[in-house]
Amino acid sequence: MLERLPFFRRTLPYQMFDRQRFGLEANSAKILERIYHKGQALAWDGQQLLGDLVEQHGVPDLDRDRKLALGRLFAVIMWGELAAWKVSAALAEELDAFEAKMAATSQAHDEARHFYVMHDYLTLLDAMPDRLDRGAETLLSEVIGADHLAKKLLGMQLMVEPIALSLFHVVRRLNIEPVLTGLMPYYERDEARHVALGIKYLPAMLKTMTTRERIELYAFQLRLVTCEMWSSFGMMRDLKTLGVDPRMMANVGRAKQLSALEMLLRELNVDSDLPLQVLDRYGLALLEATIPEGGPLRQRLRRVAQVALRGATVTEAGIEFTH
Ligand SMILES: [Fe+2]
Ligand SMILES: [Fe+2]
Repeated sequence: MLERLPFFRRTLPYQMFDRQRFGLEANSAKILERIYHKGQALAWDGQQLLGDLVEQHGVPDLDRDRKLALGRLFAVIMWGELAAWKVSAALAEELDAFEAKMAATSQAHDEARHFYVMHDYLTLLDAMPDRLDRGAETLLSEVIGADHLAKKLLGMQLMVEPIALSLFHVVRRLNIEPVLTGLMPYYERDEARHVALGIKYLPAMLKTMTTRERIELYAFQLRLVTCEMWSSFGMMRDLKTLGVDPRMMANVGRAKQLSALEMLLRELNVDSDLPLQVLDRYGLALLEATIPEGGPLRQRLRRVAQVALRGATVTEAGIEFTH
């Protein structure tokens, strides 16, 4: 019912203002509506901004190795923006709740801007790769091709966007290339609003889902964690070339993802953090397997088992193991 309705059932949604019908709390509805108006007030002119930054810092340029590495990493962002554009446009069309439709429409507008600005930037840098690494390609295809809107919403807003936010944060802090550094705060500000759509609307969506659909959603989430770790494995070499510690990057991403998922559980009034713990331990074990801290293979495998069994605490600086 949340995915595509048959064509003949499409009609004017006279009930779209009845938020209770969609399981939407008054407070959440207000926040969703504000996402649209904030999006309009804070919309920036991508062509103007990129032009101003080039005028200020010159046409972006780097030595060959760093240029190729930055190109490959930000091509993942560029295609990720297209995926986010497609997902938010699907949400804008399919969601009937008025406030959620408004928020998704505003997001689609933002994502279109993120996409073309990144495309123009990578073209200026002359660093546009033909295609993405298999891991990242699989991750984005999983989200675009998901068979349920809840999967798209969870996958994009709460699993992929926090990772993109981490990359923006790290790249801005390291000031790898000044034009890109100048663009990042604008992207970061918009993306933070998009995470809010997931947190505020997913609980309403979950209320209308069957147990089977919820279990499928959880399984989908585990699959995404696997794809994410696989794609970070592919990005490791490029991060290193740019002077970013891949483990630090993966940890910042996980911390952001976990805090988004924690907020979601709070919205759902779930006291137990067991689902998060399972997901987190699974992600950590994969992290140990794909981006190990080093040491002989046996030691690394022992660490995988240790993390899976005991869990660990995530901090921005790294992982603290709980023994
Ligand atoms: Fe975006
Ligand atoms: Fe976004």
